[in-house]
Amino acid sequence: MRAGRSAVVSAAPAAGIPSGVVMSRTIEISFARSAKPSDELSVLLAADGGRLGAAAQAVDPSGVLARAFRISGFRGKARATTEIVAAQGSPSDRIAVVGVGDPASPQPDGWARLGGAAAGQLGKARKATVFLDVPGIEIGAREAADFAFGMLLRAYSFDRYKTKKGEDDANGAAGKVAVTIVAAAATAAKKEFAAAQAVAEGVLLARDLVNEPANLLGPLEFAERARELGRLGVKVEILTEKEMKKLGMGALLGVAQGSVRPPRLAVMQWNGAPRNRRPVAFVGKGVVFDTGGNSMKPASGMEDMKGDMGGAAAVTGLMHALAARKATVNAIGVIGLVENMVDGNAQRPGDIVTSMSGQTIEVLNTDAEGRLVLADAIWYCIDRFKPAFAIDLATLTGAVMVALGQHHAGLFSNNDELAGRLLAAGLATQERVWRLPLGPEYDKLIDSKNADMKNIGGRYGGSITAAQFLQRFVKDTAWAHLDIAGTAMGSPATEISQGWASGFGVRLLDRLVRDNYEG
Ligand code: BES
Ligand code: MN
Ligand code: ZN
Repeated sequence: MRAGRSAVVSAAPAAGIPSGVVMSRTIEISFARSAKPSDELSVLLAADGGRLGAAAQAVDPSGVLARAFRISGFRGKARATTEIVAAQGSPSDRIAVVGVGDPASPQPDGWARLGGAAAGQLGKARKATVFLDVPGIEIGAREAADFAFGMLLRAYSFDRYKTKKGEDDANGAAGKVAVTIVAAAATAAKKEFAAAQAVAEGVLLARDLVNEPANLLGPLEFAERARELGRLGVKVEILTEKEMKKLGMGALLGVAQGSVRPPRLAVMQWNGAPRNRRPVAFVGKGVVFDTGGNSMKPASGMEDMKGDMGGAAAVTGLMHALAARKATVNAIGVIGLVENMVDGNAQRPGDIVTSMSGQTIEVLNTDAEGRLVLADAIWYCIDRFKPAFAIDLATLTGAVMVALGQHHAGLFSNNDELAGRLLAAGLATQERVWRLPLGPEYDKLIDSKNADMKNIGGRYGGSITAAQFLQRFVKDTAWAHLDIAGTAMGSPATEISQGWASGFGVRLLDRLVRDNYEG
């Protein structure tokens, strides 16, 4: 355990809990077919109209909940919550109720979000019993496991550097809570949950990396976090500056040269399928801090640029998830780790660099650095591994936030099938993506007078010209680019996230792999 870490994700029965993942509360989840209500907190579900399941009888024998619903206006709307101090005769001190809405119209990603809403009701409880029982809904193993998954995601908060734990925590408490989930499908749910827990760990790892301040998470420290995946059976190589020089990664190195902290390229391989199966590949932008370099950013809000490694964090979290759940796929993760700083040796606007591909780039704006890092990381990945497809993730442009806000990532692809699968995985996980165009007219905008290309287009279509730039480094590989500037960081709180670092991309890509590339 690292210093200042408050707790480790856990679930009972615990299966090899990896370190590297923290949350404000340790939730120990167990499943049972039946159980007595906790003497502290019972959580019930209610369908629309406030209709309760059979479990309510034992929790609320005097039936005061109906009255409480009337007073509070609680109608069982999906993810609405209400709570009461239990009446005399109840075995629990407190009863919380989570609405599931209309049983006939399930919500996308509904069970995880319901679990998140339930976790938001834990308060200071040390023990809680959740009864997954509601009229008109068959709650299977998958639903129960998703519910537990949502609880884990909601419980995370970044409080490693708070020396007074829990006092002003969003959940109002720190420490351990034992949650018993009572569900008819308990035995099967426990099995399903093992995989869900692996994915949760991946999401929380990604959030943790994004939340860490840049003074404590430089390229070397990030590379060490990637190396830790070795414990899960991931093969990890870390390329040094010298090795990258030898490979001719002039684009990535040009960005890195303004920082006293040297760059790294981490290569992660999870071999979960037979050797002869072509790997799938994921490439992440890992700018641990982006000052803009000599084309410097304004002071206001610059602190957010500690999150400019959200793409690399998602790739690392995804590799964790795939390995921890032993996905039957061969997957590659490549992350380019650099710091974009201002310095006597920092690159200048107008500099011309030669990328590993041999193509030359005129750097007209040192703040358009992410594409320079990715140009070499993508080329290296495709050249070495010849993957079935490559997907890159990057907090690449402010323009994508102007276009799509914070609720969709920008999707660019040269392959309709891959794009369609990403769109579908996005709807299933509610990590949504929205496709934007590519085309020769846009590509032309990055032609340069002095080199093969320049690293900025004009005023318009900034996310598109950034994507066109990347496309010049993918050869004919099936490729997709996810611009996650609006979704990975500065994110609003949701049922399953307390905000800022969302871990965006881990669930999306785990789902993409699970639904299309395993077996
Ligand atoms: N890391 C930024 C993009 C970004 C902005 C991410 C806001 C998250 C929130 C990227 O390196 C950048 O600075 N992009 C420039 C590109 C421009 C110079 C062509 C931008 O978006 O302004
Ligand atoms: Mn930048
Ligand atoms: Zn950047």
